[in-house]
Amino acid sequence: MTMPRSSRLLAVLAAGAALLLPAATLAASKVRVGLMLPYTGTYAGLGNNITNGFKLFVEENGGKLGGSEVEYFTVDDESDPAKAPDNASKLIKRDKVDVLVGTVHSGVAMAMAKVARDNNSLLINPNAGAAELTGALCSPNHFRTSFTMWQSSHTMGKVAAAQGKKTAVTFTWGYAAGNEAVEAFKEGFEAAGGKVVKAMTLPFPQVEFQSYLTEIAALKPDMVFSFFSGGGARKYLADYAAAGLKAKIPLYGPGFLTEGVLDGSEAAQGVQTTLHYADGLDNAKDKAFRAAYLKAFKAEPDVFSVQGYDAAQLLAAGLAAVKGDTSKRKEMIAAMEGARLESPRGKMSLSKAHNPVNDIYLRKVEGKLNKMVNVAAPALADPARGCKM
Ligand code: PHB
Repeated sequence: MTMPRSSRLLAVLAAGAALLLPAATLAASKVRVGLMLPYTGTYAGLGNNITNGFKLFVEENGGKLGGSEVEYFTVDDESDPAKAPDNASKLIKRDKVDVLVGTVHSGVAMAMAKVARDNNSLLINPNAGAAELTGALCSPNHFRTSFTMWQSSHTMGKVAAAQGKKTAVTFTWGYAAGNEAVEAFKEGFEAAGGKVVKAMTLPFPQVEFQSYLTEIAALKPDMVFSFFSGGGARKYLADYAAAGLKAKIPLYGPGFLTEGVLDGSEAAQGVQTTLHYADGLDNAKDKAFRAAYLKAFKAEPDVFSVQGYDAAQLLAAGLAAVKGDTSKRKEMIAAMEGARLESPRGKMSLSKAHNPVNDIYLRKVEGKLNKMVNVAAPALADPARGCKM
C-alpha cells in the first residue's frame, strides 16, 4: 500500500516517539486488577467462584475490560482480618493496582476499605455484607456488587413470621456478617409479631456445632435462623440433620447457608432461604451466564460467581467511559454510578451509597438446587444507615 509523503513522515515520527516512551506509558492501556480474596479456609470456594465469575466476563470480552487488557495481581486473604491491612497495602503500593477487588469476609473487607480510603484507591467489593461498608464507611471510591446482610435477613424475618412462626432461636458465627444477619432477622421477625427466644454464637470459623444443637433441641423453638457459609455451612447442614432436628425444627437462613454447598443429599432438602439469586430464574441473561460458566469451569455457578461477574461488568463500564485512563477517577465513578448492569440475578441498579438494589427471592432446596419460590421483596434497597455521600 502506498502512502502520501506527509503520512509516511507522521508514521515514522510516531514509531520513533514510541521507541522513546517508557514501557509504563506504552502499557497504559492495561488495567491492573488486584484480587484480594480467600483461596484457603472455609471461604475458599467463595473466593474461587468470585474469581471465576470475574474472569468469565473478561474472557467473554476478548480478555479486556472496557477496552483495556487486564493484568491480575492475586492475594489469598485467608479470611484473616489481622493480615488484611498488609495484604491490601501490598497490592496498592507494591503492585500499584488500579483497582482492588475484594473480599468475602466482612472483617477483612472493613480493614481493606480503610486502607483503600487512606490511599484514595478504587475498591469493588464482590461479597462482604457488613452494613458499615456502604454505611458509615461509604465512599465515592467504594462500590459493592453483592448485598448487605440486612437485605436478605430482614426479608427472612418477615417471610418466617408470615409462615406462622412465632418463636425462633438464632445461631451464627459471631462476627460482623453473622451478627448483622441475626439483628436484621430479629428486626423483621419481631416487627411482624415473632420472638427471638435465644441468640447463640460460635467464633468464626469454628464448626463444633454439637452442644448448640443439643440446646436447640431442648428449647424447641418453631424455627432456627442461621448464618454460616462455605465449608462451615456444609458441615452445619449435615450436623443439623444428623442431630435429628431437621424434621422437628425447620431451619431458615439467608441464602449463603445453602449456596454453593448442595450435593443433593437429604440433609439440606426443604431448607428455605432468602437471597438476591436463585436457581430457576426466568431471565435470558442468567441462562446464557450459566451455560457459559458451566462450559468454562465444568461447574455450576452460584451467587458468588454472579457477584464476581458483576464486579467485572461494573469495572468495565467505568473503564469504557475513560478509555482505560484510570486517572480520570471522577468520570469513571460517574459512569459506574450510572451503569445499568444486566446481571444474572435480574434487574439491578446501585443505590446512592453504591450498594445493589435488587429483588430478594425466597428459595427452597430441592435436590442440588436453591429453587426460586417467589420474589419476597422486590427492588429492595439497604437503608444505608450512617452513609453521608
Ligand atoms: C461476610 O463476611 O460478609 C460474608 C461471608 C460469607 C457470605 C456472606 C457474607 O456467604
